[in-house]
Amino acid sequence: MAGKKILLIIGGGIAAFKSLDLIRRLRERGHSVTPVLTKAATEFVTPLSVSALAGEKVYQDLFDLNDEAEMGHIELSRAADLVVVAPATADLMAKMAAGLANDLASTLLMATDKPVLIAPSMNVRMWEHAATQRNLKTLLKDGILTCGPNEGGMACGEFGFGRMAEPMEIVGALEAAVNDGPLKGRHILVTSGPTHEPIDPVRYIANRSSGAQGAAIARALLSLGAKVTFVTGPADVAAPMGVDLVDVQTAAQMLEAVNSALPADAAIFAAAVADWRMANAADQKIKKDGNGLPVLEFAENPDILASVCAGNKKPKLVVGFAAETQNVIENAAAKRKRKGCDWIVANDVSPSTGIMGGSENDITLISKDGAEDWPRMGKDQVAQRLAAKIAEALG
Ligand code: CTP
Repeated sequence: MAGKKILLIIGGGIAAFKSLDLIRRLRERGHSVTPVLTKAATEFVTPLSVSALAGEKVYQDLFDLNDEAEMGHIELSRAADLVVVAPATADLMAKMAAGLANDLASTLLMATDKPVLIAPSMNVRMWEHAATQRNLKTLLKDGILTCGPNEGGMACGEFGFGRMAEPMEIVGALEAAVNDGPLKGRHILVTSGPTHEPIDPVRYIANRSSGAQGAAIARALLSLGAKVTFVTGPADVAAPMGVDLVDVQTAAQMLEAVNSALPADAAIFAAAVADWRMANAADQKIKKDGNGLPVLEFAENPDILASVCAGNKKPKLVVGFAAETQNVIENAAAKRKRKGCDWIVANDVSPSTGIMGGSENDITLISKDGAEDWPRMGKDQVAQRLAAKIAEALG
């Protein structure tokens, strides 16, 4: 990737020391960094060390006439390809959400016309506080990109969500945000993972999908520059950094999330959606009450793929998956027609293949033009090849 111009706003939190490493990593990868320190940040890192690592002047003051004569704050906010806030403290997030502009950092964030990525970092209670969660929602709605926070031990001795993402995770999210690959400007929806259908508050119906193939597809699409909305059930594999993440549990929630993510240029339905849910999930735990075995009555779940294909927001390219254990190609080809999607990725998920939950996949890509048999390969490679084909098809 060609080097990008990053405007890095360092907020006043203990994680500011990690931003020094972030600057180093960004420069190693050919990006240039213009650093801005909030007043509080100078309590944690010195302007001299930041400037030395960035190889650039550090900006700190909104009313510095010298700075304004060299490069005014409006120009500073626009000269970059991307604005990164790391660490993004609770205070900075609140300012951003409220649209305050009372110092250089917040003014730049108001004045910029470039994508903004924040890496939140704060004490777990502050992160979980209703005000921070409310601000986060506002920022996501405003199109602000986020990376982290991660779960773990904190400098204050507590444990939970609030640790700033690691520098290389931020680099990954940032590169995905400014990537100018063939899918730049395209919005692609990916569903992934299993769904969990509650039987009662403590039990559920699930399947063995790990979410690995869906996550790999999302990553491959991101690396070609797409904006990816990733709607995932409770998967084993973590969602890739840089996606617009929507966590769901049930098929009904997945359908709702998919409908609100449309329109999209393409949609990939890699989720292993449960076909059935309980007709009447119990509100309370079902007890062994001596009256015999419980009878579970099923109801059919909505078919998300079929409903999107039949709807008026059908993306230009819709790719389904077909998890089969017998007559794979025949069943998958029939499924493509029945559901109305453009392509179907057919795979044999019989336990002997080791595909479901494993790291490899062996697929046949079925379209109206016929079946294309791919050799067995890693799920990442399947994803890259599929992403390249999607880019070609979208033109
Ligand atoms: N799918 C969906 N909503 C459902 C069920 C499946 O969107 N309620 C999607 C899956 O994400 C996948 C495709 O449909 O892309 C096929 O899923 P699969 O489980 O193989 O097919 P089923 O619909 O369950 O069909 P069958 O029962 O015949 O296997």
